[in-house]
Amino acid sequence: MEEVKLGFIGTGGMAGAHMNNLKNFDDVKFVAMCDISEDRAKQRAEEFGGNAYSDYQQMYDSEELDAVYICTPPFAHGQQEIMACQEGIAMFIEKPIACELDTAIIVNDHVEKSGVITSVGYHWRYGGNAQHAKAELEKETQILGALGYWMGGMPGVPWWRVRAQSGGQHVEQTTHIFDLARFVLGDAKLVHGVASSGSMTDIPNYDVDDISMVNIEFESGAVANIVSCCAMESWGRVYLEVFCRGVVATIGGSNTIRRKDQEEELGSSGGQDRDRVFIDAVKMGDSSGILSPYSDALKTLHVMLAASTSFQTGKAVDL
Ligand SMILES: NC(=O)c1ccc[n+]([C@@H]2O[C@H](COP(=O)([O-])OP(=O)(O)OC[C@H]3O[C@@H](n4cnc5c(N)ncnc54)[C@H](O)[C@@H]3O)[C@@H](O)[C@H]2O)c1
Repeated sequence: MEEVKLGFIGTGGMAGAHMNNLKNFDDVKFVAMCDISEDRAKQRAEEFGGNAYSDYQQMYDSEELDAVYICTPPFAHGQQEIMACQEGIAMFIEKPIACELDTAIIVNDHVEKSGVITSVGYHWRYGGNAQHAKAELEKETQILGALGYWMGGMPGVPWWRVRAQSGGQHVEQTTHIFDLARFVLGDAKLVHGVASSGSMTDIPNYDVDDISMVNIEFESGAVANIVSCCAMESWGRVYLEVFCRGVVATIGGSNTIRRKDQEEELGSSGGQDRDRVFIDAVKMGDSSGILSPYSDALKTLHVMLAASTSFQTGKAVDL
């Protein structure tokens, strides 16, 4: 395949970021832009090329696509992924893959049966800093644990502050940190969390948690605590700090690796462009370079949704 024919479902902010990156690739052609907002789909088609659709069924019926970027909000996932599997179309899906586990499990069954190539937008995994930290941490005999944070303000998209549409901050945003923790520390086995709200009563349609803290026990025996807070007006903290006896790696934030009497920057070289990796995988029919296939992103979703359950029940959830 010389040229990858691409469709988009959901042509909002994040889709635009992918389009602006992909337009620089000479082996990609924008074929279809689909959004329930007809105007938005048309605007993207005018700017980047392709035909505009407001119905993805119609798009799949009318176009010959090699791959589709699914950049809808968390609540809108499901059927468009299943149809892509039925049509044998590769998928790049923005994180989180859903905000309900059942939807993601059904889609994963279709992905596994169809064998289509999938990649999920956990781009932190591709960063040179994360790759460097992971390589250094793998030399240590044991990772003790990690502290992770996504603390700051709220993104502007209106669905974000509605729990039924985004899943809340830990599902929609801090998911990058949960996923990075899994990337470095391995699979989780037990999740317990607490959450609090009440400071954002002036924000219309807001029903997500202002702050939450999630404890995770990993299969390796390592432990982590991950904090989400979207109520900070003028302060922020977004990183994962990983602790071993002789080493502390901070991925994001200061981007450093510290040893006794020695601090080194986590380099950004060696990082990869997740769009390039996906397009290459589609062209070669080889998914081995993809660091976040759908089945793995499902495991990350499971951790966040276990936390949601724990916020409500007060009990730990065994994965
Ligand atoms: N990887 C990252 O760092 C990153 C950053 C920002 C957003 N995201 C993710 O990207 C996704 C989209 O976020 P966004 O900021 O672009 O939101 P957005 O609101 O700007 O865009 C979403 C678009 O999807 C459209 N849409 C909704 N339901 C649809 C449906 N059923 N069919 C077709 N179109 C539909 C909306 O009309 C809208 O244009 C979210 O999952 C978000 O978490 C990822």
